[in-house]
Amino acid sequence: MSRHDNTIAIVTGAASGIGRSTAIMLAQEGATVVATDANADGLAVVAAEQSGITAVPGNLTDGAFIDALVAQAEGLGPVSVLANVAGVMDYFYPVSQVSDDLWDLVQNVNLKAPMRLCRLLVPLMAERGGAIVNVASIAGLGGSGAGAAYIASKHGIIGLTKHIAYTYGNTGVRCNAVCPGGTETNIATTATPTQDVMWAFMRQQPSIALGEKTAKPEQIASTISWLASAEASHVNGVVLPVDGGWKSA
Ligand SMILES: NC(=O)c1ccc[n+]([C@@H]2O[C@H](COP(=O)([O-])OP(=O)(O)OC[C@H]3O[C@@H](n4cnc5c(N)ncnc54)[C@H](O)[C@@H]3O)[C@@H](O)[C@H]2O)c1
Repeated sequence: MSRHDNTIAIVTGAASGIGRSTAIMLAQEGATVVATDANADGLAVVAAEQSGITAVPGNLTDGAFIDALVAQAEGLGPVSVLANVAGVMDYFYPVSQVSDDLWDLVQNVNLKAPMRLCRLLVPLMAERGGAIVNVASIAGLGGSGAGAAYIASKHGIIGLTKHIAYTYGNTGVRCNAVCPGGTETNIATTATPTQDVMWAFMRQQPSIALGEKTAKPEQIASTISWLASAEASHVNGVVLPVDGGWKSA
């Protein structure tokens, strides 16, 4: 018996980084994984690399796609695990310089898409049982580590996590969040500050310097896998830093 035998799991952001590792790990541990990402080519590589993964590419900012994703996953059987991993950073734009477009994009990917998936799956899981793991960030625990939009989105997903955990805590649903520190992925493509916001980036350096140790994506994925498993059956509403000690400084 493996940890996730007889489990249907949806994993977002599965073409790269933490989502990719999570999809592969859950499949290796017995789950049937419905993996999604906007990067269709990257996702196809992951599905080819590991059996048990069905690739359903699409953009999570599209509500109709989210409806179709859940319908396709439910077609395979009852979904009982949701890992909301997909996310984008915000180039460290402080509130005085953030545009509406960047704000909306970051909220839509990092917060609205997980909410939409939870909206569809929580009622189903309330009856049949299920576990949701949301990927927040240490930027969800304080005011440093990113710009205004990203920090707000990660505080937001922690609020959503606690709301679900408490409101549905007397049903079969559990909902927890992990807060990675620096992790070796491709997120740097949306994390490099431009010259005009360098002052805000430099202002954060003392706190960023406390995060000395970066993680491999597998070190975050293994925590997600555990929280999604029956081994964590009484763990609900936890917001867990997985940061090598950064936030204990
Ligand atoms: N890497 C870090 O240092 C770090 C630290 C804290 C939190 N996180 C969080 O971890 C999660 C995973 O990030 P990662 O580091 O693995 O980054 P990554 O860039 O390697 O992977 C993110 C994935 O999300 C996908 N994605 C982005 N926008 C999408 C959209 N609109 N629709 C569908 N897919 C979309 C990307 O295509 C990509 O494959 C994110 O929520 C991120 O905020 C990362």
